[in-house]
Amino acid sequence: MPMNILLAGSFDDEAEHRQWAAALDAALRPALPGGHRLLSARGEVPDETIAAAIVANPPPGSLQGLPQLRLIQSLWAGVDRLLADATLPPGVPVARMVDPMMNEAMAETALWAVLALHRGFFTYARQQAAGRWQPLAQRRADELPVLVLGAGQMGGTVARRLAANGYPVTVWRRQAPAAGAGQAAVNAVHEVHGPDGLGTALAGAQVLLNLLPLTPETRGLINARLLAALPRGAGLVNLARGAHVLDADLLAALDAGQIGHAVLDVFSTEPLPADHRYWQHPQVSVLPHAAAMTDARTAAAIAAANIAALAAGRPIANLVQRATGY
Ligand code: NAP
Ligand code: GLV
Repeated sequence: MPMNILLAGSFDDEAEHRQWAAALDAALRPALPGGHRLLSARGEVPDETIAAAIVANPPPGSLQGLPQLRLIQSLWAGVDRLLADATLPPGVPVARMVDPMMNEAMAETALWAVLALHRGFFTYARQQAAGRWQPLAQRRADELPVLVLGAGQMGGTVARRLAANGYPVTVWRRQAPAAGAGQAAVNAVHEVHGPDGLGTALAGAQVLLNLLPLTPETRGLINARLLAALPRGAGLVNLARGAHVLDADLLAALDAGQIGHAVLDVFSTEPLPADHRYWQHPQVSVLPHAAAMTDARTAAAIAAANIAALAAGRPIANLVQRATGY
């Protein structure tokens, strides 16, 4: 019997929706020998027949009243917005996007930001705008300790890339793996856990790079207290979620010179409002939530493989733990 699958998302426009539908349809065809129907809207078939949903942060309520729904597959890596929908069916497993190509894109953005902070390239851009010729002291990579918050798919890949480029890297994660449960998340970098581990690592970091998921525990973590624990003039790179940062605290730290420069890809309100101080602040570089975008060329097959696992009764990959929020 063909499987009915709903595609639901907040896509930029109709063209993006059509592009995703075509890529997913092509990936689902070989993955589901029993056939499938990919639905772009509710109402095309009876709600009772929809078995799976592929979603990209759909408007709240989109997945209500689907009694046969057995899997929600997110096209986004971060599921904070999806899980914030109080109407999300409670018993249905949620899987998130994990795509090695996306991890690599994140590592590229992180490496660019850390290199630019390390070699003063943001300062040189400001100097160019002012017509000023002023070479800066040249630091070595091994003189710039980087602390990465989060050591999962993104944080782990970023940490490895930075370490390979000569930076002393420390990662902070929730907990060490249980004995016998496998290796530490990242080989060749230092790993710390919990509030004590974080405090010590902050004091030694020249760059703080955030790749945590947004959960009740991590919301607002990057606040005045945390920023004050960094050495004066340290750099901040936030590539995770805007709500990790208390904006007023960061702006105060930038104005006071406690933070030398911030690279921000994500914001509490997106798009960043036109009158936000970040746009004009000389020590802030703004990216439009583009650090690592889901790429249909690889992600469609990854989503389809999970739907095929559902159809065949095999384990679903990359399940989200709803209790912890990631
Ligand atoms: P992930 O694989 O789930 O990794 C999350 C990491 O954060 C894990 O190492 C986890 O620790 C750690 N963590 C979670 N809660 C923590 C806490 N309270 N204290 C300390 N560490 C904690 O997630 P991911 O795939 O790397 O993605 C991370 C985030 O990146 C996403 O949630 C999303 O918000 C963001 N993102 C942004 C973009 C962009 O374009 N800007 C693109 C994709 C993703 P354990 O290892 O101990 O569990
Ligand atoms: C992007 O921010 C994602 O979570 O995929």
